[in-house]
Amino acid sequence: MNNNNRIDLYIFLGLLAFTIPWIIKIQTQTQYSLKTDSIKVDSSLIKSIIRGKQLFRTESCYSCHKVDKRICFGPRLGKILDRRSKDFLVKFIKNEDSLVKAKHPDVIALKEEYKWANGLHNKKHLTNGQINDIINYLQLFD
Ligand code: HEC
Repeated sequence: MNNNNRIDLYIFLGLLAFTIPWIIKIQTQTQYSLKTDSIKVDSSLIKSIIRGKQLFRTESCYSCHKVDKRICFGPRLGKILDRRSKDFLVKFIKNEDSLVKAKHPDVIALKEEYKWANGLHNKKHLTNGQINDIINYLQLFD
């Protein structure tokens, strides 16, 4: 092998040393973007959360509640399912008086803590699905 040929070989090897990691990087990036493309977003949950956010305003829950902290009017409602069952929430929001009459211990404790009149929650016109939308929205917050 003469000197010129050897220099050509070094240049070729040098180019390989740069191009191989570059090709590998492109390969892995392509795989990565394919992976993110294939993540399925549960659009029905997102739609429910958006409806819940609107209901929280239009039903004026926001005037007494904050999702992230307690204010003087009412308790913080974020991650409400950590504290209450769906069944409880549907009954309470539609007709809290039925739970007051039944002397539900959690409702009695709330009434003692907040000292508001009864009958604040009387949303009989809301469907269970709409209350579920509000709950899905509330679950977003700590
Ligand atoms: C006029 C003020 C007011 C409005 C409007 C209001 N709330 Fe309340 N909410 C309270 C108070 C005060 C309490 C504490 C219990 C009580 O006194 O009834 C409470 C309690 C709750 C609880 C129980 C929280 C817990 O820790 O278990 C939930 C859930 C709730 N409200 C949801 C709602 C939703 C949903 C709406 C809108 C549809 C709403 N509230 C509208 C004042 C209000």
